[in-house]
Amino acid sequence: MQVPQLFPVHSAPHGTKVAVVGAGAVGSTIAYACQIHGVAHTVALYDTDAAKVRAQVLDLQHGSMFTPTTAIIGSDDVGVCADADVVVITAGAKQRPGQSRMALAEANVAMCQALVPRLLEVAPEAILVPVTNPVDVVTQAVLAVSGLPAHRVVGSGTVLDSSRLRSLISERAGVGVPSVRAYIAGEHGDSAVPLWSGAFVGSVPVSDWKVDGTPTFTQAVRDDIARTVTNAAYEVIAGKGATTYAVGLAAAYILDAVLGDQRLILPVSSLVQDFHGIGGVCMSLPRLVDRSGAGVPEPVTPSPEELARLRSSAAQIRKVCRDLRL
Ligand code: 2OP
Repeated sequence: MQVPQLFPVHSAPHGTKVAVVGAGAVGSTIAYACQIHGVAHTVALYDTDAAKVRAQVLDLQHGSMFTPTTAIIGSDDVGVCADADVVVITAGAKQRPGQSRMALAEANVAMCQALVPRLLEVAPEAILVPVTNPVDVVTQAVLAVSGLPAHRVVGSGTVLDSSRLRSLISERAGVGVPSVRAYIAGEHGDSAVPLWSGAFVGSVPVSDWKVDGTPTFTQAVRDDIARTVTNAAYEVIAGKGATTYAVGLAAAYILDAVLGDQRLILPVSSLVQDFHGIGGVCMSLPRLVDRSGAGVPEPVTPSPEELARLRSSAAQIRKVCRDLRL
C-alpha cells in the first residue's frame, strides 16, 4: 500500500516504529514524549482530521533539532501505521469535567472495535496499547475483536496512577520519586486499589517509615493519598479540560519498556487469568513488560483488604464489559 505521508521524511528503514492513533491532546503528547525520549526511530500519527494531524506533525517536527533523531510522520490514512511495532490507541471521546471514565465505555468501545481490524491489516505484528478510557474495558474489547494472544494487548492501566501515588509518597517521605516503589492496581478509575502492603520508601516498608520519629503513613494519611490519586484526573480535567503530560510520559514509558525489551514490572492492564481467584477480566496488576508485551502478574500476596478491593474492582469492570456484551 502506498503510504500517503503528509510530510515525507527519511525514517530509519529498519528502525522501530510507534504508531499513535488519535492526534488529539493525549495522542500528540504521547508522540511528543516518545520524541523527546527517543523511544522509536519513527513516530507515526494517524487521525481522521487531516488538518489537525498535519499541524501536530509540523509542530513536533519543528522541535527535532532538540531531540533524539526521530522521524515524525502523519496522515489521515491508516496506512501511515504500516508495519508499526507498537500501535497506541488514544482515539475516542474524552471525559467532560465531573464525568467518570466508565461513562465513555459504549462510545469508545464501539470506536475501537471498528478501528482495530483496520490497524491489524496494516500492522499485523504490532503490540496494541490501548490508552482510550475506560482503558480496562477498552483493552478487553480490543483483545476480543483482535483475536490476539493476551500478551499482545497491553492497556496503559494504572501506570499513571502509580506515578501519581509515588509522587505523593515521595513528598511526604522527603525522598526522590525514584526511591519510592508502590503500585496502584485494579481499574484505572474510581475503584483503583493502592497496594500499600508492597509499598516501599528505599528498602523500608511505608508502614515503618518515620519522619522525626513519627510514623508518616498512618491510615488517615494513606486514605488521603489514595483519595488524591483517585481524584487526580478529575482535578486536572476541571482545570484544563484534559490530562496530557503525565499520561504522555506514562505511555512513552510503557512503549520504551516494550521496544527496549526492558523487562520492567509495570501495572499495565491485561487479561487476568487467575490471580487469587480473579480471572476473565482485563485490569492492572504489576506484570513483567518486555518485547513480547505483558507477562503474567508477579506473584504478590495482597493484604486481605486489598484483595477484597481488587475483587470488587474486577467485578465493576466485568459488569460494564457484560453490559457491552464483551
Ligand atoms: C488520567 O487518569 C484521564 O485517564 C486519564 O489522566
